[in-house]
Amino acid sequence: MSRVLITSALPYINGIKHLGNLVGSQLPADLYARYQRGRGNEVMFICATDEHGTPAELAAAKTGENVADYCARMHDVQAKLAAGFGLSFDHFGRSSSHRNEKLTQHFAAKLFDAGLIEEVSEKQVFSIADGRFLPDRYIEGTCPNCGYDKARGDQCENCTKQLDPTDLIDPRSAISGSTDLEVRETKHLFLKQSAMRAKLDDWISQKADWPVLTTSIAKKWLHDGDGLQDRGITRDLDWGIPVKRGDTDWPGMEGKVFYVWFDAPIEYIAATAEWADETKGGEAAWERWWRTDKGADDVRYVQFMGKDNVPFHTLSFPATIMGSGEPWKLVDYIKSFNYLNYDGGQFSTSQGRGVFMDQALEILPSDYWRWWLLRHAPESSDSEFTWEAFQSSVNKDLADVLGNFVSRVTKFCRSKFGEAVPSGGTLGAAETALIADLTTRIRAYEAHMDAIDVRKAATELRAIWAVGNEYLQEAAPWTVVKEDPERAGAIIRLMLNLIRVYAVLSAPFIPEAAARMLAGMNTLDTDWPEDVEAALSGLPEGHAFTVPEVLFAKISDDERAGWQETFAGTRA
Ligand code: MF3
Ligand code: ZN
Repeated sequence: MSRVLITSALPYINGIKHLGNLVGSQLPADLYARYQRGRGNEVMFICATDEHGTPAELAAAKTGENVADYCARMHDVQAKLAAGFGLSFDHFGRSSSHRNEKLTQHFAAKLFDAGLIEEVSEKQVFSIADGRFLPDRYIEGTCPNCGYDKARGDQCENCTKQLDPTDLIDPRSAISGSTDLEVRETKHLFLKQSAMRAKLDDWISQKADWPVLTTSIAKKWLHDGDGLQDRGITRDLDWGIPVKRGDTDWPGMEGKVFYVWFDAPIEYIAATAEWADETKGGEAAWERWWRTDKGADDVRYVQFMGKDNVPFHTLSFPATIMGSGEPWKLVDYIKSFNYLNYDGGQFSTSQGRGVFMDQALEILPSDYWRWWLLRHAPESSDSEFTWEAFQSSVNKDLADVLGNFVSRVTKFCRSKFGEAVPSGGTLGAAETALIADLTTRIRAYEAHMDAIDVRKAATELRAIWAVGNEYLQEAAPWTVVKEDPERAGAIIRLMLNLIRVYAVLSAPFIPEAAARMLAGMNTLDTDWPEDVEAALSGLPEGHAFTVPEVLFAKISDDERAGWQETFAGTRA
């Protein structure tokens, strides 16, 4: 049994995430976590809400709530939606937790001791109209790198370049829109990332197996022009983790907080500690996942994220934990994603464009969405959600192929043999061929899942479902039963067993339907089909089952057209 630590990029607290956000990190991370558990490995799957920084403050200002109350409420909303999508986190934490505050201040102390933090008197944009400094998202302007005119003070959404607010051309306040800005001096802490450039470069160079999307972005920021710059890790904000060195006050840093991108990834660790607190496992319970001196040597750590998050996870966060000089676990594999577009444009949170997690669950069960999104995951390039493609995938893959198979097998058995696994009869050459074919395909499916090739895995899984349908069509037990009922019974016995195997293989993609298939087969046996032939005789002769309710309802043209219209505009 191996141990796998899996983290999904932490969703910002400000508002409900859209399907593009979901497929970019949380959903594929869940797919992988479920698969690893299915294979019998020990998994720690961590996510949390990213609660600090300007996005939270701005969102709370809009609803008129106190920012702490806003975060508590939205954490709950996001946790419920995550559960609705079947996201099987071992812990869904909060970056505003006490654990994260302590750990973040701890890292700052260690980095300071290692000489990697510099105090810098910095020029910052001050808004006369707003009477305050404008960090990060409080300021907008034109990107100096690509010319995009809605770049934010911390990062350009268009070209992913990390920015400082003073880099922007034609800056304006995101609070008031005022351009009456001036640059004033204020003291801040900088993480000397540049001092770690060679170390980071070495480390990334060893990651030959990482997706090109991940390494190309990392190398770009390591080698291009101004490459790896020192990063300001403090901000003039009220909401955030107070700047301290461990428990000690930091002279000159009174009233300042750590930059959200400094504390957010530390929450991966802190959330695991929150989990240990909740499960009363003590320090050792989380340290064995994160401290290589406490057992984390054997852990394989895999991170999931959208491409805009890659610089922070390949450079900034590793700089933080390497720079501490302590034996923290570094990531082993970073799976990153391109963007999912919506019907000819972009999903947009700020414009309310696209389908959001709450809306999706209001119209259809989560498995429909999980299947479509994962099957079309934006791996090698951006991909696009259209209602036509969604309807077609649901109707063909889920209803016609998998759903129909389960329904035909179970209903036929009920009508000819009753609701119990038929006995007697023997299998022949066709079944030997089927088992060989399934074995090859299942091994291929495992290889794609191990490599986290999400689309390839989905395609192979669908092929595995189709193989059962094709065999059934040719074996035609409805004809055989007239001449040789025992042989028809043997065919159906194999097919009922195949339903169980399908449930186990499909659970990472469509956990709810898989659970209903297992419930129908009246079994708790979720063992992975390591030996396919043996797995196909797991349900014994005479074993009682029930015909499951329709697994997947087809989407009609009217429904599709209706949703297309409902979701054409933007939401308030
Ligand atoms: N909240 C960030 C985003 O949605 C991701 C933070 S990931 C973390 O882009 F590692 F920093 F936590
Ligand atoms: Zn840009």
